[in-house]
Amino acid sequence: MRTIAVLNQKGGVGKTTTVVNIAAALAAAGSRVVVIDFDPQAHLTIHLGLEPQIVQFGSYQVLTQSAEFEKQILLMRPNLWLLPANINLVGAESELVSVVGRETILREALQSSQDKFDYCLIDCAPSLGLLSLNALAAADDVLIPLQPHFLALRGFGKLLQTIELVNKRINPNLKVKWILLCIFDGRASLPNEVRADVEQFLDKARRTNCPWAQAQILPVHIRRNIKLAEAPSYGKTIFEYEQNCHGAEDYRKAAELIHAQFQPSTPPDAQPVTISEIQDQPAGDDENQEQLSTISTPSPQPASQVPPQPSTQPVGVDENQTQPPIEIKSIPQSDSETQSSELTQTKTDQPDTN
Ligand SMILES: Nc1ncnc2c1ncn2[C@@H]1O[C@H](COP(=O)(O)OP(=O)(O)OP(=O)(O)O)[C@@H](O)[C@H]1O
Ligand SMILES: [Mg+2]
Repeated sequence: MRTIAVLNQKGGVGKTTTVVNIAAALAAAGSRVVVIDFDPQAHLTIHLGLEPQIVQFGSYQVLTQSAEFEKQILLMRPNLWLLPANINLVGAESELVSVVGRETILREALQSSQDKFDYCLIDCAPSLGLLSLNALAAADDVLIPLQPHFLALRGFGKLLQTIELVNKRINPNLKVKWILLCIFDGRASLPNEVRADVEQFLDKARRTNCPWAQAQILPVHIRRNIKLAEAPSYGKTIFEYEQNCHGAEDYRKAAELIHAQFQPSTPPDAQPVTISEIQDQPAGDDENQEQLSTISTPSPQPASQVPPQPSTQPVGVDENQTQPPIEIKSIPQSDSETQSSELTQTKTDQPDTN
């Protein structure tokens, strides 16, 4: 199982949208995918069509070690399982304050499921507290969604600093693998400037041992698309809501690029594995912004609590065989934000909102 933490302490940058739609694309292509809602806002749970109020179990129970991971997951779509969240998760941080080893509870909980899924995507809360530390301790890779506006890089150094501390002290395998530009408005000049800044920053790290030394800006960006904003209200993935819109096209491509990196012996020039078209679902209405305000809350999807079967054909994951498909163009500058500090300091961060 490849565990990917989708993390940015900035609020509203596209973390949940990215987890839902990349997971849906991977699952539709045949991978066994489990997604973890690690945000007390429970947006991932809602986006997949489940009301958090009726959730009696989930990530809180796993974190407080009152239940096993596989007994808490729900089959939401073919090949797609969810560890849901509810508001109880707010209390987990303070309840665990005196628990020794509290940063690695999720990692331990996932141990026995390593062979049962191909991918685990963790939707992190917009903070760098204990929940995010657990996600980083459990993860192999970090995907950072970034909304390229003028404050995009504020806090980016702090995020990387936290990842570096977890890498040094808890999880030596942790790597920042991808930056995904989300809610991208190609008509403005700023997004391209932000992209260039990030490229420069990443290039500076290429010959170091830091966990983002091999990070790449995914060569697809997620365009701003009203359908992506509407789909959560219906409890649908973008492929169920409007499979031919730009949002579906972009997320399908992003999932293909991610999946291709974990295929053994991919020749450098090979095309990424094509993720098959997802079955038609009734399309949403037109891009009528006004309708957003009248959308009702999603009705729960029927979800059966079916633990997955043991793996018969796991995705071949071999770090040495992966083929980074992306060329980074520019040469780096400096990052002034990375300063030494303790893990405990990161826990006091408040979420950014924008
Ligand atoms: N490409 C896009 N185009 C238009 N709207 C988008 C796009 N991506 C996400 N959104 C919308 O922007 C809002 C924030 O997205 P999302 O919830 O995925 O961000 P987040 O980082 O998970 O937020 P939080 O930090 O609160 O968890 C949501 O209303 C979502 O529907
Ligand atoms: Mg979210």
